[in-house]
Amino acid sequence: MPEPPKTPMRYLSGVQSSGRLHLGNYFGAIQNHIRLQDEGDCFYFIANYHALTTVQAAKELEKFTFMVAADYLALGLDPNKALLFRQSDVPEVNELAWILSTVTGMGLMERAHSYKDKVAKGIAPSLGLFYYPALMAADILIYQSDKVPVGQDQIQHIEMCRDMAGYFNNTFKKEVFKLPEGVLSEAPKVIGLTGGKMSKSDEDSVIPIFGEPAEIKKKVMSIVTDSKGVHEPKDPDQNVIYLLYKLVAKPEEAAQMEKGFRQGGMGYGDAKKLLIGKLEEVFGGERREKRKKMEEKPGMVEDTLVASARKARRTAASTMEAVYAATGIPCSRVKKEILELKTQNSGGSSG
Ligand code: ADP
Ligand code: TRP
Repeated sequence: MPEPPKTPMRYLSGVQSSGRLHLGNYFGAIQNHIRLQDEGDCFYFIANYHALTTVQAAKELEKFTFMVAADYLALGLDPNKALLFRQSDVPEVNELAWILSTVTGMGLMERAHSYKDKVAKGIAPSLGLFYYPALMAADILIYQSDKVPVGQDQIQHIEMCRDMAGYFNNTFKKEVFKLPEGVLSEAPKVIGLTGGKMSKSDEDSVIPIFGEPAEIKKKVMSIVTDSKGVHEPKDPDQNVIYLLYKLVAKPEEAAQMEKGFRQGGMGYGDAKKLLIGKLEEVFGGERREKRKKMEEKPGMVEDTLVASARKARRTAASTMEAVYAATGIPCSRVKKEILELKTQNSGGSSG
């Protein structure tokens, strides 16, 4: 008996367009996203609705959104293998987020760490920031995702998403949603230059993936260290320079730096220079050139985002049909008319 054809695993993830992408984004999530494009059905989007909780200037948000797309493409995302689209091009996620919020208890939302952490960092405690996990759950569920490759900081949000999917299925007595799982990379919590997590919300903590060489050099050289001399033994496990070097260097190179620190003989200045060299080797050269080309061809980037969004939106529409049927919210003629009108105006029927 021939085996029935396997449906490919669906991977989904989002990155906020709230600043320049950094090493934490790359090693925590994006490297995995690009690797997985050869393994399954991949949906990646630029979370510009989420970014609106922190970036509230139109030009900035547009610029960062373009930059995230250009970075992904320069880093190796192949639009023939994976979708890369703007979150806002599938506005139905907001509708689903609302529907999920009606079956979600306040207690669950109040337990979210990310809201408390962000407010502690000085981000305005808006209703949107609080509601953020419901939108994220909708992002995941609307595409019927199986796996969500993210950094450690997003795992709680994925647990909340599973909870919300369960509440929905139980409330409406239909298995509309499957329960997705988080997937961590080998570096789920990349340390920042200031010792905490590397995060876009703290510019001093980041090494931008495509920063100019002079900027990267300056940032690395200004990493604060203790005053131990070259020959004194040092603990590499607490050392930002070594921890970042380990991400970009070959295992034997990292082992050599580790040994130099433990035994003495490796000074902080030399270690910084090695790190700068490796960063240039990994992200400079061809990748930086490709990134520059994206800047010269914004139309091509836009076309990629639009083509992907059309496909993603079709998947979302089929999930929403099941959601409408389960809840009693109709996909009325008015809704259909609007969708069709938009399709006609854009000159195609695939909308
Ligand atoms: P940021 O936290 O810098 O604002 P995002 O929230 O947009 O970045 O995160 C995009 C992806 O990158 C998420 O999967 C997130 O978990 C991951 N990520 C962000 N910072 C780090 C980090 N320091 N280490 C590992 N992964 C990270
Ligand atoms: N909240 C995620 C972050 O800050 C970004 C995001 C939004 C996301 N929607 C998502 C990640 C859905 C994975 C799946 O990093």
